[in-house]
Amino acid sequence: MVFNSRLIAVLLAFCIAVVTTSFLSLFKEVSSSALVVTFLISLSSTYLLGFIILEFLIFREINKIYNLLDNLRKSELTAIDQNKSGLFNPLKKINEEIFSYAALKQKEIDELKKLEAFRREFIADVSHELKTPIFAAQGFVHTLLDGAVKDKSVRNRFLKKAAKSLDGLDILVQDLLTLSQIETGEIKMHFESFDIRQLAEEVIDQFENKAEKKDINLKISKHAPEEVFVYADWQRINQVLTNLISNAIKYSNKNGKVTIDFQITTSHVVTRVRDTGEGIPPEHVKRIFERFYRVDKSRSREKGGTGLGLAIVKHIMEVHKSKVEVSSEPGKGSVFSFKLPREATLQTSPAE
Ligand SMILES: Nc1ncnc2c1ncn2[C@@H]1O[C@H](COP(=O)(O)OP(=O)(O)OP(=O)(O)O)[C@@H](O)[C@H]1O
Ligand SMILES: [Mg+2]
Repeated sequence: MVFNSRLIAVLLAFCIAVVTTSFLSLFKEVSSSALVVTFLISLSSTYLLGFIILEFLIFREINKIYNLLDNLRKSELTAIDQNKSGLFNPLKKINEEIFSYAALKQKEIDELKKLEAFRREFIADVSHELKTPIFAAQGFVHTLLDGAVKDKSVRNRFLKKAAKSLDGLDILVQDLLTLSQIETGEIKMHFESFDIRQLAEEVIDQFENKAEKKDINLKISKHAPEEVFVYADWQRINQVLTNLISNAIKYSNKNGKVTIDFQITTSHVVTRVRDTGEGIPPEHVKRIFERFYRVDKSRSREKGGTGLGLAIVKHIMEVHKSKVEVSSEPGKGSVFSFKLPREATLQTSPAE
């Protein structure tokens, strides 16, 4: 038998009406018609009152709690109607308590699920990236060991190719280590005041050959000030500029232009690396800072990239309490910029 508010109200009303009428029947002067009227009035009024109390204060809330638990079981928190009124009803409060606890737990579960998915994807990406150079080097070394290549110059070429694959592997492992060390805070930052223009000139010197090979005009803007002091970690900013300039050259066509510029404000310096290269389609711009993300996987790999450069840049800027901005137009070029303080500020010094 299913108990609901209507049935309980009827039973309750009947009992009260019987008790009231029996009590009144003890008085001789009360007529039988008055007893009938009393019975009917107390039956209907108690029924109404009981039904309202049970239905609106207890059963509806209990049903809501059941629905809530049902939705929780199905992990459908959004389907729950969270009505915050009725503070005087203790059941409503219990309902709200369960909801907020469940919402919190659901958030934690979602977060863990995301992390787990990220971890799985990361391991798959790392394995894939490691596999490529290992297989290549393995292939060359085994061919040489089998003695199939008699020609000395061809043997040397094979060895060079194997060495190149292993160098790539070394860069990949170094990049992965850098990323994880920045993330875990193992790399200690050494904040100091230095001339970022001078640093940019040193990086440009390193890339001169690569730029010349593609007839790329790599230079510091003629409008840039002679000295541009910033307060940051020299080694890490060197890494940032190296990655950004390397990308600007790598993703530019022949006869392109790569220009580094500095904009000095009262408290900060904005450094911009501008190229006239292939640009990045808008749907990819947000994702290029993710590990292993490449706009055109096959072309980027061909150009020697693993897709970790910008992830490292992003992490380094985060440790500097700053971020890299990018604006790009496919076919026209890209501008990568980042902001650093000119002097030691409370913002950066605690990260030391
Ligand atoms: N200046 C740029 N112009 C056009 N595309 C760019 C530019 N910089 C980055 N990208 C795109 O963003 C992707 C991610 O860049 P990122 O530097 O992280 O990786 P990568 O250059 O492929 O490899 P790595 O830097 O690890 O050698 C690149 O593969 C490329 O598609
Ligand atoms: Mg890169």
